[in-house]
Amino acid sequence: MDYVGNGRQVSSTIISLLLKSWFIFFWVLTILCNSKQAAGYNRYGGRNLASDNPSGFISIDCGADEDYIDNGILYKSDRDFVDTGISRPVTANNSGNLRVQLKNVRSFPEGRRNCYVLKPEKGKDNTYLIRASFLYGNYDRKNTTPIFDLYLGANLWWTVDWDNGYVETIYTPSTDYINVCLFNTSKGVPYISALELRPLDNTIYRTTAKALITMQRSDIGGRSILRYPADVYDRIWNPLNVDLLNFSATNSSISQGNNDAYKIPDTLLRTAAKEQNATCSLSYFSDSLRSNSQFYVYFHFAEIEKLQGKQRRLKIDLTGQRSASTNATLDYLKPLSLSLNAMPDSAGQLQFSISAAKGSDLPPILNGFEIYSAKEMQNASTVSEDADAMMGVKQAFRLIRNWEGDPCFPSELIWAGLTCSNSNASSILSINLSSSNLTGEIPASIANLLSITSLDLSNNELTGSVPDFLGKLPNLITLNLTRNKFTGSVPKVLLQKAEAGSLTLSVGENPDLCASLKCYSKLKKYLALIIISCIIAVLLPILMVALVIYKRRKQRENLKRSIEERLLKSKNRQVRYSEILIISDNLKTTIGEGGFGKVYYGALSDKTQVAIKLLSASSKQGPNEFKAEAQILTVVHHRNLVSLIGYCDEAEHKALVYEFMSNGNLRKHLSDPNTKVLSWMERLQIAVDAAQGLEYLHNGCKPPIIHRDMKTSNILLNERMQAKISDFGLSRVFANESDTHLSTCPAGTFGYVDPTIHLSGNFTKKSDVYSFGIILFELVTGRPAIIKGSEYNIHIVDWAKPFIEEGNIQDIIDPRLGGSTESCSVGKFVELALSCTRSTPAERPDMNHVVSQLIECLKMVQDAMPQMPQMPPKNIEEFSYNSIGSESLFSPR
Ligand SMILES: *[C@@H]1O[C@H](CO)[C@@H](O)[C@H](O)[C@H]1NC(C)=O
Ligand SMILES: *[C@@H]1O[C@H](CO)[C@@H](O)[C@H](O)[C@H]1NC(C)=O
Ligand SMILES: *[C@@H]1O[C@H](CO)[C@@H](O)[C@H](O)[C@H]1NC(C)=O
Repeated sequence: MDYVGNGRQVSSTIISLLLKSWFIFFWVLTILCNSKQAAGYNRYGGRNLASDNPSGFISIDCGADEDYIDNGILYKSDRDFVDTGISRPVTANNSGNLRVQLKNVRSFPEGRRNCYVLKPEKGKDNTYLIRASFLYGNYDRKNTTPIFDLYLGANLWWTVDWDNGYVETIYTPSTDYINVCLFNTSKGVPYISALELRPLDNTIYRTTAKALITMQRSDIGGRSILRYPADVYDRIWNPLNVDLLNFSATNSSISQGNNDAYKIPDTLLRTAAKEQNATCSLSYFSDSLRSNSQFYVYFHFAEIEKLQGKQRRLKIDLTGQRSASTNATLDYLKPLSLSLNAMPDSAGQLQFSISAAKGSDLPPILNGFEIYSAKEMQNASTVSEDADAMMGVKQAFRLIRNWEGDPCFPSELIWAGLTCSNSNASSILSINLSSSNLTGEIPASIANLLSITSLDLSNNELTGSVPDFLGKLPNLITLNLTRNKFTGSVPKVLLQKAEAGSLTLSVGENPDLCASLKCYSKLKKYLALIIISCIIAVLLPILMVALVIYKRRKQRENLKRSIEERLLKSKNRQVRYSEILIISDNLKTTIGEGGFGKVYYGALSDKTQVAIKLLSASSKQGPNEFKAEAQILTVVHHRNLVSLIGYCDEAEHKALVYEFMSNGNLRKHLSDPNTKVLSWMERLQIAVDAAQGLEYLHNGCKPPIIHRDMKTSNILLNERMQAKISDFGLSRVFANESDTHLSTCPAGTFGYVDPTIHLSGNFTKKSDVYSFGIILFELVTGRPAIIKGSEYNIHIVDWAKPFIEEGNIQDIIDPRLGGSTESCSVGKFVELALSCTRSTPAERPDMNHVVSQLIECLKMVQDAMPQMPQMPPKNIEEFSYNSIGSESLFSPR
């Protein structure tokens, strides 16, 4: 028997031992044989893009330009699997019907050995089905079928001497990379059509052999070739029909138990050859196998007839040099796979027969079988660790140096630059890749070359750092990295070995590489020192300062809180000067300057702001008196008086702590061009507020408090523009002093002081009313009490009176109001201002009266205002318009 197809008649032998009841199977590699089968092959052609690629399949269409999906399997172009060769289309006449994988070949006109590299996902020590297909198809138009050797790793797999067929093996590699190599044996240019790898379950096809080569795989009674997806492992099953056989079939599906890892296709198991007479056997005889390998036969059964209480027991015999046999009992619709192995007998023949075992009620059946010959794969090769490491180096450097197949074998094809140990399982002893135009980094797989003694990578363009693993190669004695572009520093271990003399290390001409033990160790030490001192020098002071600032801030915050507590909640409103400094942040911000001293900004907390009036040192006042007065003032409370919330009474420093008025004084609002112009309504409201405050001092306090210094800069505005009178009572505090030091004591302000004071020398309620009248004039005219002219200054009353007397009130109204005043109220207001400033104090009104008159003025303005709509709005638009409009018309109060 040979395995040759080539369209010739397949050789077979028929031996009849008994009469008609002995049946002979043909031992055929059907796919190998003829074009009829090629047509069957083609049944699976065509593209089906809807399917996914089965996991772990590697399917390479050699010579194809692009990837595609065929029958649910992703076939890839071979460009990522091979570095050499050229793509050629076949010219066979029937190429239109060919399965698509066979339409192109890759041929290898150059080099003795050219290899495909497969790297299955599951890696080494797993079982795979590997199939290489060849269709010559006169691709080179020489009409001569090339003959060449196919190698799996370092071992001859098959000599391809036919023009159409495939070689298939079940293989458990000991390396992660699998080399499939074509050897030119000077009988034509090697070529290949397709290469396929399928992962198998590791529990099936277990033998002591390293590889099993497929001889036959038959689907008894089948009608067409079966493969993926019917067979999940993509085994190719050829139909076997012999006229002499009887067949039995079922439509029921075979219960594929999950634990039946052979996963024989259901379609296959549903038909079986059957002998009618239980005394007869199903037998199979081989031709001379001309082989001294062990043969493995796998029998696949499934009971497909209802047994109805009977039993089908089988006896299976395989006969060669010795015989092997086994028994089996079948269960309905359950698959069963068995295997036997034997060597061919002295005539090179092998036979098997399946007969009814003793006690069986039924004749034998057989659904399918496979025949494999064992392959030991014992050729000398590189040890697997080193082989995989070298494949890693090859992939990393993408060498085009004929690094193909096994690195060390055959010895005449040893990879350029390598030396290998002299044994059947060779290790790599040295690599010399000097001047090889290498780029990139040193590949990590070199770390696995434990036997290497010499590594020469000099004179390349290698970059990156010199890896630490070089220092761990136990046998390395020569390392030449000269003339590259390495960076960083040479690992300490290498430098130490070099110093100790156990390593010849050459690392020169790498401009950015630090290559001295000193440099290396110092650098590290100093780096650590520098980093530590940096931390000490920079971070520590920053931390300490931050800590101090934080602590101080916290302390200050606590102090402020206790001061606030005391000021706002207790009756004792006295604070120390040191505390004044804390709350004013050491008198940082000046917010005003009055007759009695400067005013500073202070904060008790985020919420409570204060104004601190520091009384000038020149005011000499008996300590007790100041304290007494200040204590009285702290209990005067009215919403239109600026509250005194505390005082400081120390010999050198006297201070008053007031509530903070964020909008400053009225004078500023009337004269400063940068502030928003106060409307007439706002001015009236301020007048009412101030009048009410003064009225309270005059009539609400016992004894009455005469302000003595009413003026627009003493009327302060808070954030809601509410007016409050400040500095009340201060003149009295200093009154005693004013008797003796008249010049230094402020007693009223020029322009506001009642002219009759000079006659009486006494401040009275009516002198406050005069000052208030001046304030009213200022509000309506926007001008100061003393109007500065180019030639002479003029008092506001003297300026306004002539206009009023002539009835030209409009001419004195602040032009900034832009005429938007209510004229009745203005008339009444001016009248009131005039009455307040009458020269005879007795004719001036009481503040009581002033307040009521001003409120009437305010009412006049409010009544003249447009009202909010009383009726529900007609629609939303109108309403929103009205509400916005009216809002802007009303004063903020
Ligand atoms: C089966 O074969 C044996 C031997 O050839 C023969 O004696 C017997 O009659 C056969 N039985 C049937 C049912 O044909
Ligand atoms: C590597 O090969 C070059 C020539 O290609 C040679 O000069 C050099 O000495 C070799 N290195 C070693 C370590 O043998
Ligand atoms: C290292 O390689 C360089 C350049 O190829 C060469 O000149 C030098 O002699 C080599 N050193 C050793 C020790 O072989």
